[in-house]
Amino acid sequence: MSPTPTSPPDRFIPSNRPILGAEELAAVTKVLESGMLTSKSGAGNFTLQFEADFAKFVGAKHAIAVNTGTAALHAALLAFDVKAGDEVIAPPFSFIATTNMVLLNGAKVVFADISPNTFTLDPEKVEAAITSKTRAIIPVHLYGHPTDMNPLCELAEKHDIAIIEDACQAHGSKYRGHDVGTIGDVGCFSLYPSKLITTGEGGLITTNDNLLAERLRQIRTHGEIRPYEYVQLGHNYRLPEIQAAIGIEQLKRLPDFLKSRKANAKFLTEHLNDIKGVTLPKEASWATHNWYLYTIRVPSPRSRDKVQKTLYKAKIGAAVYYEVPLHLTPIYQQLFHYKEGLMPESERAAKEVLSLPIHPALTDEEREWVVQQSRQALA
Ligand SMILES: Cc1ncc(COP(=O)(O)O)c(C=O)c1O
Repeated sequence: MSPTPTSPPDRFIPSNRPILGAEELAAVTKVLESGMLTSKSGAGNFTLQFEADFAKFVGAKHAIAVNTGTAALHAALLAFDVKAGDEVIAPPFSFIATTNMVLLNGAKVVFADISPNTFTLDPEKVEAAITSKTRAIIPVHLYGHPTDMNPLCELAEKHDIAIIEDACQAHGSKYRGHDVGTIGDVGCFSLYPSKLITTGEGGLITTNDNLLAERLRQIRTHGEIRPYEYVQLGHNYRLPEIQAAIGIEQLKRLPDFLKSRKANAKFLTEHLNDIKGVTLPKEASWATHNWYLYTIRVPSPRSRDKVQKTLYKAKIGAAVYYEVPLHLTPIYQQLFHYKEGLMPESERAAKEVLSLPIHPALTDEEREWVVQQSRQALA
């Protein structure tokens, strides 16, 4: 353990910070020199390389690069023809892109509550939510902790329902030894700057299904199969070549990022585990966490908000993901009038969660500072 810092660090410690360097810069330069910034067929050379590298990394047959994680989710729903009259089951404890994409396809979101230990979909709640209209389930591997997939896969098979994994926070997370995003029918990843790796904006869809991959590639470029021949509705969800080139370099760094996150999570657990009444994050026995977020629970009578404010004053960006569960967010209240109390575990989590920085850009001194200040704020 390095000496305990006695004063705040020079720079604010955000909850996540991307690491980009000379390799990314050189890759961008290469694209600029090539003059090929995108490909109207859907994927230029850098994008094809990035897709092949990511597919190999997660162990999927196909990876289709798109321009956001939101686009990945939307394209996946389109590939399953999710439309008005269909229902899609999703957790209310997630980022709003998960369910907005369902609504923008005209389908109904049916919320199922989370399991309190993993913050991910509770399979029993999912089973209770299935109807004859259920077309898909979207398990969200929140904070990088995988959802318990086997019971969901059994339900999906029994009822002929698609599984679209929202793995936007879960690059490198594994469920029973398999990478998330390869367990359901498709997996959707985000490459936003706060994520495990970034291309600025960007996304990836993974699948082992050849036909689905073909459909997804068409959807990425207006449903086109040959120049100006359109066989389905689609979008312009193409990833620019500059971003793909950055992605190739970021992916090379991912194994080191994951190691560093794991070490930082272990360090925090070792130094915070004696604080009574605060719950630290744990991996389920079947899970490999990527430690995207280190999310503790700060239940009352302590005030999570007060702890967060104290840490901010100490230059630590302890973050709350998410303060309001989706069913209680203003636009969903206005549209659907959900009642408070409907999703008790998600509502409780929203009041208690606090994520402490463990990203790979943390210095040893910053890590010490996070521990020291968290202990003080939680005391
Ligand atoms: C769980 C989840 N789903 C979907 C998204 C959407 O990804 P993006 O911001 O790349 O569109 C995000 C990212 O913010 C996310 O965290």
